[in-house]
Amino acid sequence: MNEDVRRFAGKRVVISGASKGIGRATAIRFACEGARVALVARTRQALEEVAATISEAGGEAFVAPADVTQEDQVEAAVLAAAKEWGGLDIVVSNAGIELPFEDTRVDQLDLAVWQRVINTNLTGQFLICKHGVRQLLKSGGGAVVMVGSPCGYRGFCFHEHAYTASKGAILSLMQVMAVDYIKDNIRVNACIPGFIDTPMNAHVMEDAGLLEHWCSSIPMRRPGTAEETAAVILFLASDEASYVMGSAYVVDGGQLAG
Ligand SMILES: NC(=O)c1ccc[n+]([C@@H]2O[C@H](COP(=O)([O-])OP(=O)(O)OC[C@H]3O[C@@H](n4cnc5c(N)ncnc54)[C@H](O)[C@@H]3O)[C@@H](O)[C@H]2O)c1
Repeated sequence: MNEDVRRFAGKRVVISGASKGIGRATAIRFACEGARVALVARTRQALEEVAATISEAGGEAFVAPADVTQEDQVEAAVLAAAKEWGGLDIVVSNAGIELPFEDTRVDQLDLAVWQRVINTNLTGQFLICKHGVRQLLKSGGGAVVMVGSPCGYRGFCFHEHAYTASKGAILSLMQVMAVDYIKDNIRVNACIPGFIDTPMNAHVMEDAGLLEHWCSSIPMRRPGTAEETAAVILFLASDEASYVMGSAYVVDGGQLAG
């Protein structure tokens, strides 16, 4: 573990979607900076691999498997993490899915696909926040970081109408939570990753033409990394962001600005 930077010593974090991609990188970085991290995703084995990486490096992780669309599972996972450590200080609601081959324009969009995307990306973040915030209230405050997408601002994820709607709603939910919970000493913000090299984008990374197409719309002309995204999530969760609330921090190589 990096002993030089321990912004989160003594902090207790729950993070959804911690088995892969941005969530995995964020969990590892939190642990490197001294936090105890509860890892939430559906598959225990995948979470145990992340936990092993963290503990091999001297950090502390707790595996709390849950499907974020199932309230009983989310509640049990959050309660188990809070029991393990005597409370929670930080909630990162990150788990999400994108279904590029099924999600489409509304006139052709199956209700089942719409519901799967909304249930995971919106209801899933709501449920982690609901049960996580209950713990932050008991702790006397803390921070919530939600994970959105630039398509929550603009309609550039062509043909992914359910994903776009889910991410637009994350911004609205983040803002109203930020305003409502600041009196409880809870800061709520969102990280807005652009095009990031994670398993979610494997189909793009493996297709040179598609990759070139995506990068052509990014001023920095490359995908971001999960680690670059994690750095912003950690900033928003840290005391360095003490006057930051209700904000959406974009990590997109300039895509929205361009
Ligand atoms: N990668 C990108 O380019 C990009 C861009 C914008 C926003 N995002 C958002 O960032 C977040 C993380 O994306 P990623 O790229 O790391 O994706 P990923 O596919 O690499 O990882 C997603 C994580 O969410 C978990 N997950 C999915 N459904 C779940 C469920 N029902 N219950 C519990 N866990 C579940 C997965 O197991 C995995 O751990 C998502 O909300 C995504 O929408 C990603």
